[in-house]
Amino acid sequence: MMDRVAFRLILFGVFLISATSAPVEKKQNVDIYSFYINSTVSSRYAITIITSRVANKLSEPQEIQFEVKIPKNAFISKFRMTIEGKTYDGVVKKKEQAQEQYNKAVSRGESAGLIKSVGRTLEDFKTSVTVAANSKVTFELTYEELLKRRLGKYELLINAQPMQPVRDFKIDVHIQENPGISFLEVKGDLNTGDLASAVKTTRADKDAWVTFYPTEDQQTKCANCAENGLNGDLIITYDVNRGNPKGEVQISNGYFVHYFAPSDVPRIPKNVVFIIDRSGSMHGRKMHQTRLALLKILSDLDEDDHFGLITFDSEIDFWKRELLQATKANLENAKSFVKKIQDRGATNINAAVLAGVDMINRNPRKGTASILILLTDGDPTSGETNIEKIMANVKEAIGSKFPLYCLGFGYDVNFDFLTKMSLENSGVARRIYEDSDADLQLQGFYDEVAVPLLTDIQLKYPGGTNLTKSSFGLYFNGSEIVVSGQITDNNVESFTTEVIAVSKANNVMYQDTVVMKDASDVKPENEDFLQRLWAYLTVKQLLERQVLLKGQEQEDEKKEALKLSLTYQFVTPLTSMVVTKPQEGEVDVADKPKEGGESPRHPTTRHRLVPYGPSGTPGFSHYHFFSNSQPGMSGQPGLPGPPGPPGPPAPPGAGRLGGSYLRHFHQASIVPDDTFSFLAFDYDDFVGTNDQVMRSAVVLPTHMPRRTLPKATSLADIVPVHNRFLLPAVGQSKPLCFDIPVPNKLKLLEDSASEFSMNGESTHSHNGFHRIALHYKSNYELVIDKRSIKYSDGQNNSEFLWDQGPTQHSIEGASMILRNNELDITVGIIRIVVLLHKINGQVFLWPAVRQQPKDIVLAGILGKSDASYDEIQGSHPPTLKINDKEVKAYLEDVKDYRLPSVPVIRCWLVSFEAVMEGDVSDFTVTKL
Ligand SMILES: *[C@@H]1O[C@H](CO)[C@@H](O)[C@H](O)[C@H]1NC(C)=O
Ligand SMILES: *[C@@H]1O[C@H](CO)[C@@H](O)[C@H](O)[C@H]1NC(C)=O
Repeated sequence: MMDRVAFRLILFGVFLISATSAPVEKKQNVDIYSFYINSTVSSRYAITIITSRVANKLSEPQEIQFEVKIPKNAFISKFRMTIEGKTYDGVVKKKEQAQEQYNKAVSRGESAGLIKSVGRTLEDFKTSVTVAANSKVTFELTYEELLKRRLGKYELLINAQPMQPVRDFKIDVHIQENPGISFLEVKGDLNTGDLASAVKTTRADKDAWVTFYPTEDQQTKCANCAENGLNGDLIITYDVNRGNPKGEVQISNGYFVHYFAPSDVPRIPKNVVFIIDRSGSMHGRKMHQTRLALLKILSDLDEDDHFGLITFDSEIDFWKRELLQATKANLENAKSFVKKIQDRGATNINAAVLAGVDMINRNPRKGTASILILLTDGDPTSGETNIEKIMANVKEAIGSKFPLYCLGFGYDVNFDFLTKMSLENSGVARRIYEDSDADLQLQGFYDEVAVPLLTDIQLKYPGGTNLTKSSFGLYFNGSEIVVSGQITDNNVESFTTEVIAVSKANNVMYQDTVVMKDASDVKPENEDFLQRLWAYLTVKQLLERQVLLKGQEQEDEKKEALKLSLTYQFVTPLTSMVVTKPQEGEVDVADKPKEGGESPRHPTTRHRLVPYGPSGTPGFSHYHFFSNSQPGMSGQPGLPGPPGPPGPPAPPGAGRLGGSYLRHFHQASIVPDDTFSFLAFDYDDFVGTNDQVMRSAVVLPTHMPRRTLPKATSLADIVPVHNRFLLPAVGQSKPLCFDIPVPNKLKLLEDSASEFSMNGESTHSHNGFHRIALHYKSNYELVIDKRSIKYSDGQNNSEFLWDQGPTQHSIEGASMILRNNELDITVGIIRIVVLLHKINGQVFLWPAVRQQPKDIVLAGILGKSDASYDEIQGSHPPTLKINDKEVKAYLEDVKDYRLPSVPVIRCWLVSFEAVMEGDVSDFTVTKL
């Protein structure tokens, strides 16, 4: 102890910065001298390798980042870093194991990144490594995916965004398809303008090569690029010849794949019922886009199709009670019905879907294909609201006779529920992203199911085993049925495929026998691709089936999916990739991100945010909260009842929230550019009155300024009511987390021995902190806000701007480095980083302690470097033992603002008092 204090006194001798430093010019200290994307597609299975070679031009070590976007459907299968001749391979591990390794690294104060973010078609992979002075690093990432045929074509999407112009930039794509390539088209913003001349396409019968070799000059002068170089997609679409209606078989190394997509079949007339949500939350653009899409879809119906239209909120309306033929007159009439659909009321999914099923059941027609399409943007809030019961009702009513497709509009839907309900009824769920093209997304989905060709399709392979899914309810023109499996006997000469299906009212059969060696025309360099394809498809399907299974069967299939993911090193929802770095013990963990809008983890507390009040007021809607399942108001919308047609706003305080409001906010979605103000809301605890976590009530004032939502924001980012802090736990995979209500002025860190302290101020309207002040001795002060860093030594003042470029000062053991939205401060053996986050239009500060003494606890919110707890097994609600006290805990997700990548981490949310052994008021200060 004595030693440590003495040591610190010396290092604290000079504090931070001298006042003479001038702003430093932004310089490119990192040179990406080569960037390759190499994609090989063999029989629709695409393996893409991204290789980035980077040099550190500084004469000191620095952290170099590698960040790329990959298609959502793909699995990462390899990651490698090569530094000074040494390779570091990522290892795919069971998720829990990887998480543990990550948490250990965090609790040791070492930097680690957990990668998690997801967009519409792409997801992020990000990692970084410290590279020695004037040294180089090579990053290599491999991902794999089976291209899916949609609307008559396959699409390979390659995103390139190297972050600076690159001397040696290459995209190489090689497509090999045995039946021959029927057409090929290169699209995407990398194939526009001047850049288009860098794209070259070469075609042979069975092969196509697409290359994109832009010069450094082209990379700076193109429309979308500037000093950051290229940023865009290359989209290659193609289809294959289909000479054989029985399909195409490929065989390699004991595995086969059968692609079945006949097109010489007459179309089957449809009975299609559209069930359209017109609840209050559909207000505005969503409703408008739905009307547009429906009008277009109606125009596309064939005259021998029959159709029905149902709109619903808490009530159900029919265009006509019966299915009617798509005659000109009927379509005109239906279109005027569509034009009048208005949003209002709550969401009675149960009654609406049952009405649709009933309509189809009452109008049976031989030789037709029936389809039910549900479009909704929210959870059931009226009528039957129990999700399990709705699913049981719908399953029983449909009785496996036809598929139910669910379209989830926006992020306020319980997408897991929709997925499960569609899968149970042999359909699929699709997300419709809230965007300017939502109507096109809706139409696109309809187009995929517009032309049914076969029903009840069974595929059989006498010489095959371990088959992927081999029976399908419907086959649509433009799609493709894919079955893969293992060959039972590799010594036989031939392999037989057999397909039985119903075309209109007739049974049809497709039987084919292929000579094994003809079907094995696979180049030796990718001869194990079929095995990987089989594994990829098997894992995808096992994961999809997870939602349908229960108990042992579910466990078994999950185990199987995990086993395959580990064998083939796929990063799936069950696995993570651990990247160990050269620096002792540093790791990154890459996860397959999950889409937003997941189902709540406390099924008894679903809450929704709905527009309220004068609907249709241009550019302005009120929102209030209500809960549909609070004790005492079970099944009922919360106070004051569902938002109605034009009426007075709800009184302040209306609507109660139970459980965690953060989770609730995440599900809220408001159309970007909407202006909103809050009425008022509060929430209180209903899990148990002793529960400290959810006790405090929050009332937002009605006079809060109206704000315009930036794009793609969740309300949590706009109106935080607390800040959530993470605390690693010794020997545990999940850290603890706790909330501190805002606004406040907090003591963040204090070491009285060295007269050092850091305080932070937060407000109502922002996440994180808007001002952080550091004090040392009686005269030194550093005040950080969203614009600048002000330094004073008691006599002289100076100011640094966040965006002035890298600035560095170190004077005898104390130092400050300003770079890229990070201010790194070292004082003695304490190292602090203050991050400037810019998320969804919000700008705020977040402090992170990177290093602190291990042997003593400093004062302040961040003074503890870790905690310890035990889970009490079998407790419900979950209970942890912390400091010998039993404490209720909730599994929550928290954005880890301590890292620039802001990963989402799952933690045990417990009360502040339980971890900090004091009241929040003990940690507040009156003056920054
Ligand atoms: C891409 O991969 C192929 C096959 O492995 C290889 O022949 C080719 O040289 C690679 N191209 C680049 C630019 O790395
Ligand atoms: C199916 O689509 C193909 C083009 O992809 C088209 O030529 C064919 O006519 C379609 N079949 C039917 C029945 O519409």
